[in-house]
Amino acid sequence: MNNDVLIIQGLAGKKTLSGEVAINGAKNAVLKAMAATILFKDTVRLENVPMNEDVKKMIIILERMGAKIVIGESSLSIDPTGIKESNLDQELAQSMRASVVLTGPLLARFGNVKFPAPGGCVIGARPIDLFVEGYRKMGANIDIVDEMYSMEINGKLKSTEIFFNLQTVGGTETLMMAATLGQGKIVLKNCAMEPEIVSVAEYLNSCGANIKGAGTPTIEIMGGNLLESKGRPYITVPDRIEAGSFLLLGALCADNLKISKCIPEHLYSTINLLKESGVPIVVNNDSIEIKNNGDIKNSSFKSFNVRTHEYPGFPTDLQAPMVTFLTQVGGESIVLETIYEGRFKFIKNLISLGANITSLNAREILIKGNTNFNNTDNDVLDAFDIRAGFATIIAGIVSNGQTRIKNTYYIDRGYENIVSRLNAIGANISRQTN
Ligand code: EPZ
Repeated sequence: MNNDVLIIQGLAGKKTLSGEVAINGAKNAVLKAMAATILFKDTVRLENVPMNEDVKKMIIILERMGAKIVIGESSLSIDPTGIKESNLDQELAQSMRASVVLTGPLLARFGNVKFPAPGGCVIGARPIDLFVEGYRKMGANIDIVDEMYSMEINGKLKSTEIFFNLQTVGGTETLMMAATLGQGKIVLKNCAMEPEIVSVAEYLNSCGANIKGAGTPTIEIMGGNLLESKGRPYITVPDRIEAGSFLLLGALCADNLKISKCIPEHLYSTINLLKESGVPIVVNNDSIEIKNNGDIKNSSFKSFNVRTHEYPGFPTDLQAPMVTFLTQVGGESIVLETIYEGRFKFIKNLISLGANITSLNAREILIKGNTNFNNTDNDVLDAFDIRAGFATIIAGIVSNGQTRIKNTYYIDRGYENIVSRLNAIGANISRQTN
């Protein structure tokens, strides 16, 4: 964890950002595709890979288990045939919740896996009860001693039907991947429908899997043998959360900004809200543009209420950047966070800059818009988590002063080369490495 500090010179409300930002491949897709390589009998090539901190950590975890990985400019070649043991490195696994998706492919391929409880993080407890329930129904024996899980199964994962009591992205992906090596039909119900799940399922099907219904509430998987890429690469789907993050920044601080190499359809809920608010947005087939926004006052944008929701609803991962946007529009807004119980910690950053936000309860806040951000007390703000960190960057760029943000590691986990990419469109940010 580095203790770099970002130093942001605010634009004092001017909307001068401009140019084009190309969106990277999605962190929340590629981490799963990397885990899926365990299901293969040959080397898997992944392209459009964002080289952020989470991807680098997943590389280390896989290499520690014996995978051979060649790292390219924005590509990976992963040879899983060297993986001999299926025990997740405790320290690394506990530092990245996404490592839990490795447990499905490992159990399915090797019949056993040991891993630590992923542990919660700043946004919530994030238990794995839904994963465990699913594994049990597929025939796994599970022991939990001192927060260490050990799972094993005699033979293959059993044919069964699993209903997720909560729509879980990781649970859906992990059990879907495990089921590809199961002994028969495994049906998953009340699945998450995120585009990242569809992207991985489509790739696995192109390599011999039999997955039907990804992107719908019911996914049916017919188990089979190890998959084979035969040189076909996985092309990481564009990161809809990164695209949405830049879109919200642009709405507040840009005159003309093009967000390219993205899939606007995956951002429909966010684009819709911003258009209705009055943000001048043009949608193309693989880019989104903010046009002639420089003279429009943010206080002229209409306020609106937001409820985070599983895909295709408004994504929880854009909740924090959206809160920053709503502090600037004209009028009051209520934001309801339905996915995580602790995802409002960052509002203290916005309040310290001058925002008027009241917590109605653990999952609901009231935002009074049209607030000026002045950084007077010169406190160094905490990034808290990946998305809260970006929300705080937006606030810093809007503000009248200099904003400093620490624990930038969180931001680097989800946004590659963020300083150079923001400065390239006109921001004024430096990174102080301590
Ligand atoms: C994925 O996390 C994303 N991470 C998260 O993005 C995202 O916020 C989340 O999906 C929701 O969209 C990756 O894909 C690597 P969940 P995941 O299982 O799979 C509860 C970011 O900023 N739950 O859909 O862990 C859980 O506590 C990150 O990029 C259980 O109760 O999310 C949460 O409240 C943050 N039991 C809700 O379900 C379980 O067994 C949704 O979690 C599993 C989940």
